[in-house]
Amino acid sequence: MTILGIESSCDETAAAIFADGKILSNIIASQAVHEQFGGVVPELASRAHHKTISKTVAQALKKASVSVDDLDGVAVSQGPGLMGSLLVGLSFAKGLALSRKIPVIGVNHIDAHMYANFIEHDEVYPFVALIVSGGHTRLVYVEEPFRHKVLGKTRDDAAGEAFDKIGKILDLPYPAGPVMDKLSRDGDPKFHAFPRAMINKGLDFSFSGLKTSALYYTQELEPSFIKKHLHDICASISDAITDVLTVKLERAAKQNKVKHMMLAGGVSANSMLRAKVEKMARKLGINLMIPAMHYCTDNAAMIAITGAMKARENLYDDLNLKPFARMED
Ligand code: KG4
Ligand code: ZN
Repeated sequence: MTILGIESSCDETAAAIFADGKILSNIIASQAVHEQFGGVVPELASRAHHKTISKTVAQALKKASVSVDDLDGVAVSQGPGLMGSLLVGLSFAKGLALSRKIPVIGVNHIDAHMYANFIEHDEVYPFVALIVSGGHTRLVYVEEPFRHKVLGKTRDDAAGEAFDKIGKILDLPYPAGPVMDKLSRDGDPKFHAFPRAMINKGLDFSFSGLKTSALYYTQELEPSFIKKHLHDICASISDAITDVLTVKLERAAKQNKVKHMMLAGGVSANSMLRAKVEKMARKLGINLMIPAMHYCTDNAAMIAITGAMKARENLYDDLNLKPFARMED
């Protein structure tokens, strides 16, 4: 089974080949054009996808030494994401599928973040997953492939969004998540006690209060003080976000009595989160899966493996496949 995966939901144009249980290539073209605007500009993203997609797919095929005729299916990110961006990937996938008479497989981007764990870990069920990306923060219970129950989600901002928005307040470049992570490493996480909303109860999240609290806190301070203590402030913010995420994942794992759990999505690249969750999993004696760093943030390898899993379960689509901007629940 040889599957081409295509990802174009936000600002990365990516293509990957998954064949016989392995990722053979994983090409990512990141769009630098958005940096100057401090966030993703949808129209520019679609144009950049359109310009790059053929080249990116060609590179993925070449690197994997696979020809288009070897493909058994084309898996493509169907949503959630930016409509114009998704349409580029979807149209390309449909064109290829039609011309080569191979099936197209629509892949949910959020599911794919989760199943990225099975590139390097054994496929096991049931498990609880914490998916933390730029647009989503959700806890799910997965009983078997593609059967998920949502346990909790954010009521406002996503965890990645919190990192990015608070980073903007601190004048850090976009996306601020990885920058805050790096700065936090030699800062004092107990420098300032930021709020940990909804930590004591339930499995939902809320991060907008933290953003407001960071805004008020910094407004009171001299720029020179912020500059001097930037590492400490970033560490304290990271500490608050990762505390909440770790406690909720632990609660979900205990409530569902699972033997396996996982982290997924861009924020799972965060070093403080990885360390806290690893410690918690050791304490509970639960098997923890975290994707390798290059499979945490947006990539097409996760689309390709999820496509291969869907093909295995006979979950194919046809050329009526449509993109969707938001998750249903
Ligand atoms: O999963 P992803 O690549 O794209 C979405 O589907 O949204 O996640 C991107 C998010 C951004 O908000 C980015 O700041 C955050 O993941 N992120 C991080 C780190 N690496 C990426 N946040 C904290 N620490 C990191 N090391
Ligand atoms: Zn993503």
